[in-house]
Amino acid sequence: MSKITVVAGNSSIDLGVKLSRKIKANLVKSQVKVFADGESKITLGGKLSKRKTVIVQSIYPPVDTNLIQALSLISKAKETSSEVIAVIPYMGYARQDREFLSGEIITMKVLDKLFRGAGASKIIAVDIHSMIGFKHFKIKTMNVSAIPDLVRYFKKLSLKNPLVVSPDQGGKQRAQEFAKEFGSEYIALEKSRDRKTGTVKIKTKNLDQVANRDLILVDDMISTGGSIVKATQFLKKQKCKKVYVACTHALLMNDAEKRIRKAGVTKIISANTIPGKTSIVDISNTIAKAIQ
Ligand code: R5P
Repeated sequence: MSKITVVAGNSSIDLGVKLSRKIKANLVKSQVKVFADGESKITLGGKLSKRKTVIVQSIYPPVDTNLIQALSLISKAKETSSEVIAVIPYMGYARQDREFLSGEIITMKVLDKLFRGAGASKIIAVDIHSMIGFKHFKIKTMNVSAIPDLVRYFKKLSLKNPLVVSPDQGGKQRAQEFAKEFGSEYIALEKSRDRKTGTVKIKTKNLDQVANRDLILVDDMISTGGSIVKATQFLKKQKCKKVYVACTHALLMNDAEKRIRKAGVTKIISANTIPGKTSIVDISNTIAKAIQ
């Protein structure tokens, strides 16, 4: 079998199927049983290409379970395929890329060793939290952006004098890229996060630019929703009109979605790097282009 194989990991079944169609590859699904003690038992449902296998497996919660499944699939693929590309649409642990507080382990360094040890030839992620994460990797890496796909969705909405807003300075470049593609202005708020408690505060004071405008809050990910809730509460006080959220990875942990809506967000739109009801923007085409 010389054709490329795509293995749709358990956390990315839909995306894996879509990708296999886009690149005209053989699709192999995996059957996964997670035992009561948390161990994963994976059975592949088909044969792999001798030439190239693409594993698609996002690392969202349960993060460690999805990580070990990704590593197991890579390891199994390496037994047959000379090239194994691991597409990790949502790269869990990417926020652990620096020693913020003394003694903290940079888990991205550990991930590099694990992916390499398992046999991956290359890692492709979508909107990794920061490129600093990939600086710790010794294997080939590639980051692809979901922004053009997200922008295509937002162009279909009739927004009133729209403005793109990043909830923090770290996301300024992302907001700039979105605004350029969308054809609007952008701003970035000042946010602080307590490194011990995780509590978020918006430090920006008054802002006249947002009054009477529809806003698109752009972020790479929503986890607890704290950043989006605080930013929306602030922007509403500045008398903006509607607030939309565009993000790549909607983890939406616990009651995050409810709290975001309560803060006044009209709609959350995310990419299908993580399956969920807000994940309506398909990025399989963008990943397909990165592979071919
Ligand atoms: C922070 O730098 C990130 O870009 C996100 O804004 C953040 O990780 C989102 O997390 P949460 O939803 O918990 O505030």
